Amino acid sequence: MNQSTIPTEELKKTINVRYAEEANKSCCLSCGGALDKANIQVGECFVDLGSGKGMDVLKASRVVGSSGKVYGIDFTNEMIQVAESNRKKLKLENAKFIESSIDSIPLESATADVVISNCTINHAKDKTAVYKEIYRILKSGGRFIVSDVLADTKLPDEVTGNPEAWAGCYGGAIPKEEYFNSIRDAGFTEIEILEESKPYEKGGVIVISLTIRSFK
Ligand SMILES: C[S@@+](CC[C@H](N)C(=O)[O-])C[C@H]1O[C@@H](n2cnc3c(N)ncnc32)[C@H](O)[C@@H]1O
Repeated sequence: MNQSTIPTEELKKTINVRYAEEANKSCCLSCGGALDKANIQVGECFVDLGSGKGMDVLKASRVVGSSGKVYGIDFTNEMIQVAESNRKKLKLENAKFIESSIDSIPLESATADVVISNCTINHAKDKTAVYKEIYRILKSGGRFIVSDVLADTKLPDEVTGNPEAWAGCYGGAIPKEEYFNSIRDAGFTEIEILEESKPYEKGGVIVISLTIRSFK
């Protein structure tokens, strides 16, 4: 189970406050090489969940070209505004940023060739719901490549019940077995680990970063 006792709206608000502050900073918010491992091709439809300032979406936009389409999904308005302003400056017409939660994505089923996400799904209370949405929007044979923060072992209640810890990218981290079960519950069968960090400390707890891939 990925459920936290923190009310959904309170959690969203805390995460939005953190990322509204981050939107105008230049620091990097990723935790792995999902985009580099995505092997994006000309003409593909690419979706980034938790697209932040839009850097990965704008890079993918150039790769897929005018015959492709790229979407960035993020529920922090300030992030969407920065991403959209970057898109306009670069005049990238095949890119679109959508303000939405990643557990209910406003895209048609079987739209995407490739879905990526970098350091975002750990923030979601219901990870199975997010992976079900990934499964739904992928075309048959489509792939996801996700970099995320996982817990080395189950985190204590004082961390999992703290919204600031969730906003800090560790409170919502769950152990690998639980995380992979969420992915399998969504319909994916084989899960490949493309990158795995050594355990490291974050907010006083031990986490790992993984980049994983699966095909629909
Ligand atoms: C750590 S940042 C990563 C941004 C970007 N992927 C990168 O690597 O630079 C996480 C982003 O995910 C967004 N986010 C977190 N939870 C989300 C959710 N449930 N639905 C949509 N966006 C979410 C945040 O607003 C933030 O922009």
